[in-house]
Amino acid sequence: MTWHLLGDLPDNELRRVLAVARRRKFARGEVVFHEGDPGDALHLIQKGRFAVRVATPLGERATLAIRGPGEAFGEMALIADAPRSATVSALEPAETFSIQQGEFDELRREHPGVNRILVAVLATALRRMDELIVEAFYASAEKRVLRRVRDLAMLYGEDSAPITIPLTQEDLGGLAGTSRATVNRVLREEEERGTLTLGRGKTIVVDLEALKLRAR
Ligand code: CMP
Repeated sequence: MTWHLLGDLPDNELRRVLAVARRRKFARGEVVFHEGDPGDALHLIQKGRFAVRVATPLGERATLAIRGPGEAFGEMALIADAPRSATVSALEPAETFSIQQGEFDELRREHPGVNRILVAVLATALRRMDELIVEAFYASAEKRVLRRVRDLAMLYGEDSAPITIPLTQEDLGGLAGTSRATVNRVLREEEERGTLTLGRGKTIVVDLEALKLRAR
């Protein structure tokens, strides 16, 4: 496994870092940490996918992102010396290597490449947030649902259909910034078109190309 965040690290240094990292295992649904907790470590994802969620002012949960193997989470609290910005939980049986703050600080000091990648990762995240804000104000809820299902199909699938997205319609609503009822309506219309089929707690994309066109 290689992690984008540590992409510039020489092999022997990567081995040393992993040797001092803590190996953590999470069951499906298990919370790694809660929004507002103090942050003392970042996690490199070895296996499984994790949901990044926040509580909305109305007490609902909004899903901000899904992160998977090769990616990391928990870096923001360490960089900004701030509490956890979101709750992260495992969506399936999952494993991480957790790197303590002191170790990460040392890596950034001694390997400027890690710092460069970190800045690029944050800039990319900001760019994505810019796009989502414009979408939230100017695109219809239907388009947002279709675009998030398209993004997830690309995350969960290896190009070949059918692709199973094992998320509830509540989660999809959280990602698209709309209600579960709207997600259900949009997905049922797509089912009638033949782009996808619906199962319990999952959406199965059968025609990714058609979905990409519909999401444009
Ligand atoms: P941290 O604030 O330490 O804890 C929550 C983590 O969720 C955060 O670090 C990031 O790793 C991740 N996170 C927070 N907001 C987003 C977002 N909008 N997109 C992707 N990941 C996020």
